[in-house]
Amino acid sequence: MSQSSPLLEVKDLKKHFPIQRGVFRKVVGHVKAVDGISFTIEPGETVGLVGESGCGKTTVGRMIMGAYRPTNGEIWFKPEDDVERINLAALTPSEMKPYRRYAQMIFQDPFASLDPRMTVREILAEPLVVNKLAKGAELEGRVRELIEMVGLKIQHLNRYPHAFSGGQRQRISVARAMALFPRLLVADEPTSALDVSVQAQIVNLALEIQQRMGIAYLFISHDLGLVRHFSKKIVLMYVGRVVEYAPAENLFGRPRHPYTEALMSNVPSTKPELMGRKIILKGDPADPINPPPGCPFHPRCLYAQKLCSEDYPPLREIGPQHFVACHFAESLDLRGCDALGCVI
Ligand SMILES: Nc1ncnc2c1ncn2[C@@H]1O[C@H](COP(=O)(O)OP(=O)(O)O)[C@@H](O)[C@H]1O
Ligand SMILES: [Mg+2]
Repeated sequence: MSQSSPLLEVKDLKKHFPIQRGVFRKVVGHVKAVDGISFTIEPGETVGLVGESGCGKTTVGRMIMGAYRPTNGEIWFKPEDDVERINLAALTPSEMKPYRRYAQMIFQDPFASLDPRMTVREILAEPLVVNKLAKGAELEGRVRELIEMVGLKIQHLNRYPHAFSGGQRQRISVARAMALFPRLLVADEPTSALDVSVQAQIVNLALEIQQRMGIAYLFISHDLGLVRHFSKKIVLMYVGRVVEYAPAENLFGRPRHPYTEALMSNVPSTKPELMGRKIILKGDPADPINPPPGCPFHPRCLYAQKLCSEDYPPLREIGPQHFVACHFAESLDLRGCDALGCVI
């Protein structure tokens, strides 16, 4: 029975940041950065968490890592196969400590995430030393294994982060994240600060390591095309909520939410006759401090009707494992990447 439980199950997760004003720091409102999201990750699986900038992706990652305490919700995590899963959201920071090593995060900015005063050797050794997992020759051996695993050389260990390019720094971040044999890696837009030519190298490196070590990924991106081929499932967010959640092939084959269709229409296509297919969304994403009533996407939706400005459409199952938050999902015939000839 315990084998069938997922590695991670997030249930109705919320994070509302208070907005404080004046000398008395009076709370005058809340940024509803994450407003009730649920999904699961199986062991060794990659899940793509996608949405426009500001929709709450990083906040979700930080809650899973224990860096932010959720306002509401549960985060069930299974640190080892034969251990009962635990609700990380209910733990205090000190109770969470023994579980931290099992989930690691890498960040968008490889220039900000490595301590410039430490050599690469010190950066890679630190987690092993802090967790008392290796010392002496064993520690040096493990550090060398890590640097080679990410395609860098032993002589790089003596250098400081400033001596490396963005792509190389991201390799070092991956090596550091792998030091403790995590079961989950949260990769927060790990390639978006890199040159296009380097992006694929980092994605391929991550996939190679995944195959070797069997870790699960929560791969965060604003780019639906990027996550398409290596994600088993996609969670698509809009202003703190999930609008569509489905196995990747179902979502790309037949999207059921107008927002998904719009994002997909902007993925490059092989079919020149479809050049005019791009759906340009009107306006900006809704304000998470004061989202519009009803469906938060309705002011930008091509198919919105009166009901959409009145009632919030809850996420519901429309096909096997395919969830959508749209009142009219059944009656819409939306075009997916198969019909659009997306090249990625
Ligand atoms: N520490 C914070 N305090 C207040 N608001 C925040 C904080 N972190 C993020 N936000 C707000 O929450 C929303 C979601 O942010 P974020 O999770 O960073 O989105 P994404 O990663 O999708 O770009 C944004 O409106 C952002 O301004
Ligand atoms: Mg972010």
